[in-house]
Amino acid sequence: MAHVKIFDTTLRDGEQSPGVNLNQLEKLEIAKQLERFGVDIMEAGFPASSKGDFEAVRQIARTIKNTSVTGLARTKKSDIDIAWDALKDAEEPRIHIFLATSPIHMTYKLKKTPDEVIQTAVEMVSYAKQKFTHVEWSAEDACRSDLDFLARIVEKVIDAGATVINLPDTVGYITPEEYGNVFRYMKENVPNIDKVSLSAHCHDDLGMAVINSIAAIENGATQIEGTINGIGERAGNAALEEIAVALNIRNDKYKHTTNLVLNEIKRTSDLVSKFTGMIVPPNKAVVGRNAFAHEAGIHQDGVLKNASTYEIITPEMVGIHSNNLVLGKHSGRHAFKDKVIQLGYQLSEEKITEAFQSFKLLTDRKKEVTDEDLFTILTDVQTES
Ligand code: KIV
Ligand code: ZN
Repeated sequence: MAHVKIFDTTLRDGEQSPGVNLNQLEKLEIAKQLERFGVDIMEAGFPASSKGDFEAVRQIARTIKNTSVTGLARTKKSDIDIAWDALKDAEEPRIHIFLATSPIHMTYKLKKTPDEVIQTAVEMVSYAKQKFTHVEWSAEDACRSDLDFLARIVEKVIDAGATVINLPDTVGYITPEEYGNVFRYMKENVPNIDKVSLSAHCHDDLGMAVINSIAAIENGATQIEGTINGIGERAGNAALEEIAVALNIRNDKYKHTTNLVLNEIKRTSDLVSKFTGMIVPPNKAVVGRNAFAHEAGIHQDGVLKNASTYEIITPEMVGIHSNNLVLGKHSGRHAFKDKVIQLGYQLSEEKITEAFQSFKLLTDRKKEVTDEDLFTILTDVQTES
């Protein structure tokens, strides 16, 4: 069974979600929870972006001991110097430097030739290497880059001292098969690629961030980057909790483990949602309110007989207390009777049938029947002679 490292960027790319602004205390609280969750690396922020972010990264670097802490920097000496000041007290200081490699970014954004891009990347990785032992270099917009050029620049930055090479799908454009091919191509064409960690970083513009990350693992990635609840720029980043659970549930197929403590998932998700103000959609995989809720009578009957009929993930695995049988118009007598017993009523089969009929009438008027509604129905039935 191979191992894949988890690089969490909730506090950097996640914080780039429009409308999100975390203060230093909130960032520190999330960092402590990410450490409990067992991520291998956390990107605490972008120290050169603001005084507040610098302070937050410095505080996290000084506090977190069991997870490696990193910070983002552009290919500029001043960014690298500021990152060093913020990260030098970390247990294992590391830096994450990025520079775009796609024709569209090099021409319009950087206004640099491919050779100039190589030269800048090499110079800045060498400069960072004088301070940091661990230097991650990202080829921004790697997935719209020419593969030969990508292989050429990756080879040079490895020679300059990079210890991690990240190939981001910055704009969420690539498909799983194509992304797998990018990783295979690097493995086959870059001489020292096996000496460094090879990382995937996916965005969700086409809803493929998680499956693209998994395709990368299947094709040689040894590190996966993502965020809690999939928050991030535009449509967000790959949701780490989904990747973690998919690797666990389908480890017959993917054969990779992580250091993540899965039953910390729910707590981590709740904390990130609370501090960022980004609500988790009810139907979101793994952590959504409905992920372990069943409404249809046939499903509820199955789950009451054996939960694995309709649940491939146990709620306990991800830190949720129990599943939830929602009583609504699709519910059947089995779930209804189970709920009556749970609420402490002891009714004859005849009374239960009577109460069930009243409940069904109510469901035509109400989407979800609450415990209070049930108390009324059951008390009425109980007190009738
Ligand atoms: O999506 C991206 O390309 C990034 C880089 C800074 C790694 O977030
Ligand atoms: Zn990103």
